[in-house]
Amino acid sequence: MKLLEDRIRQDGLVLPGDVLKVDAFLNHQVDPELMQAMGEEFGRLFKDEHITKVLTVESSGIAPAIMTALALKVPMIFARKHKSLTLTDNLYTAQVYSYTKRVNNDISIDKRFVDDNDRVLIIDDFLANGQAVKGLMEICQAANVEIGGVGVVIEKSFQKGHQMVLDAGIHLEALASVASLADNQVTFVDEL
Ligand code: G4P
Ligand code: NA
Ligand code: NA
Repeated sequence: MKLLEDRIRQDGLVLPGDVLKVDAFLNHQVDPELMQAMGEEFGRLFKDEHITKVLTVESSGIAPAIMTALALKVPMIFARKHKSLTLTDNLYTAQVYSYTKRVNNDISIDKRFVDDNDRVLIIDDFLANGQAVKGLMEICQAANVEIGGVGVVIEKSFQKGHQMVLDAGIHLEALASVASLADNQVTFVDEL
């Protein structure tokens, strides 16, 4: 998506450790018009997938997920993060390991908000190692719902998550695919 690639070039910062900082429009300050355009793009890309719900994880997934849900005219659910869960009877849960923060989090959604007729679209801000998306996929499996696709705003295609989603046979769309962050330079897959 050209609008997003231009914005990354303009406001993105490459940090050591292959981290792309985009807190000027996505992870801290949020640009609503850009979010809306991205939601409409996800809506277009997944229009034939018969999506009944959009699923993400707090906090940075919420902005793109809500705009996607608006475009598809379906509800959005965000999984909540917890240090570790004790009472889980009413919840679908999964464990997510963050490589960048080196912590385990449990994520969960309330069983009331999905049923086995649902076909879910997973949306997130970043696809890096894929741990967050994997956790959301596990929640879908536990809830016995179909996954109609995974949409991420930015994927770092050189990390493990991209292949993990494809290996699961899931329809994957990234609005910006970053091939490399070497030498403090953002190189997109479509300019290789
Ligand atoms: P993964 O979910 O793909 O496995 O991500 P990983 O464990 O590698 O990273 C942990 C957190 O860092 C995730 O956010 C992920 O979205 C984010 N992240 C990964 N790579 C980048 C990057 O290059 N730039 C930025 N800005 N973020 C990145 P989180 O901990 O779930 O936080 P939240 O922001 O959703 O609260
Ligand atoms: Na995220
Ligand atoms: Na994040």
